[in-house]
Amino acid sequence: VPHTRPLGMLGFVWTASRNPIEIWGSRAFKEPYLRANWLRVPTIIVNDPEGIRHCLVENAANYVMQPLRQRVLRPMLRDGLLTAEGELWKRTRRSLAPVFTPRNIAALTPAMQQKSQSFAQELAARSGETIDVAFQMTLLTYGILQATLFSDDITGEPEEFAHSMDKFLARMGRVDPLDILDAPAFLPRINRLIGRRSTNYFRRLIAGTMEKRAELLRQHPDRAPQDFLTLLLQADGLSRSEIEDNIITFIGAGHETTARALGWTLYLLSQSPAERQLVEQEIDAQLASPGDPASWLDRLPRTRAALEEAMRLYPPAPSLNRTALQQDRVGDMDIPAGASLLVMPWLVHRHELLWDRPGHFMPQRFLPEARSQIDRYQYLPFGVGPRVCIGSSFAMHEGVIALACLMQHLRFDYVGATAPYPVQKITVQPRGGLPMRVSLRKTQ
Ligand code: HEM
Repeated sequence: VPHTRPLGMLGFVWTASRNPIEIWGSRAFKEPYLRANWLRVPTIIVNDPEGIRHCLVENAANYVMQPLRQRVLRPMLRDGLLTAEGELWKRTRRSLAPVFTPRNIAALTPAMQQKSQSFAQELAARSGETIDVAFQMTLLTYGILQATLFSDDITGEPEEFAHSMDKFLARMGRVDPLDILDAPAFLPRINRLIGRRSTNYFRRLIAGTMEKRAELLRQHPDRAPQDFLTLLLQADGLSRSEIEDNIITFIGAGHETTARALGWTLYLLSQSPAERQLVEQEIDAQLASPGDPASWLDRLPRTRAALEEAMRLYPPAPSLNRTALQQDRVGDMDIPAGASLLVMPWLVHRHELLWDRPGHFMPQRFLPEARSQIDRYQYLPFGVGPRVCIGSSFAMHEGVIALACLMQHLRFDYVGATAPYPVQKITVQPRGGLPMRVSLRKTQ
């Protein structure tokens, strides 16, 4: 991504609504703090780990989710955890915490493995073909979510379900220039209007699926699968419509993000054959013995390190945006009340003061013996503080399991004419996808 800034307000709004990561100049990767005035709102960009700790942990209550994010996401995710604030957020987070315990995540890993293995088999049948790995990973993580959320026990045809969800998510990823300008709510957001029918349809499918499961839990509780849906219906303190919002939130927050992490990992490994071979050797050695399925992350440290390093270079969620309620100070910066606060994993993860050779793919940084040198506040793919990603452990298990199952028998080689160009559309995605040739690998 070129480090140049567009000129003028129109250029800024245009770029910010098309590919926000292009607005950053090279200073943004060198300075601990930056200040800008965007659309007359003072904006403080914090790259310094100590400053990040202060704003997102110590003084977190002073920083609420940015109105822009609320304007874009709330109409779609409503009262789900990601877009909830204040008392609603607190109550929802408390109700959802027991759903994401290590025990529950461990219980979901067999479904992750089974989906990933059958997906790898389907790809094996396409050996020799060039496929869009970005799109394929979206299909895979969608399949895993469907299995872990609903145990594939949905109302409606699976294709219909997937199709309406695709449409829903495509709309969710777009920032309307009217939202950036905070135009009055009565002005129509074209995106949302176009997506209204599929959104309503998608919500009806989720509500029907929930109803069906609630009935099963009433009639035959012993027969209900132990997936997210059952856990959510049994969680304390959430209404039906809040459960629906959170299911949609999990899909919205957990599907595209993990898919991007997987796609970028496979791409980066294809550019580092020696590293890829080390990961393959680890997978061969570990998957040869059945082992304890709960300890995937410990058994596959190199695979995990490759995934973490890929999320450093291409953080699926590149930006944590907040608004200051009251005046504050970090480093040598005054933060006035009402200012925007930006903590950008996209900048922090590539910052010249924080990383040795920041632009290089070096998974060894994340091997257990090296990891302790990475400050907790300089690596933030899942955010930090009270609003840290609730699904991070789920995502890490899913990512490592999917990579292990895919790479056990397959190899992916990038065949694009030029390096993939990252575009920020809520997640950081490769423009035009990741064309890669899939082939069968000879297991050593
Ligand atoms: C929050 C990243 C997977 C559900 C967040 C945040 C980040 C993030 C950075 C914090 C946002 C902020 O502070 O502004 C990621 C990445 C993922 C991933 C990189 C995959 C690689 C998932 C999964 C789920 C999930 C699998 C659910 C199953 C959520 C929810 C929140 C959240 C509900 C809101 C938490 C709150 O506000 O209390 N995620 N996430 N995420 N994530 Fe994830």
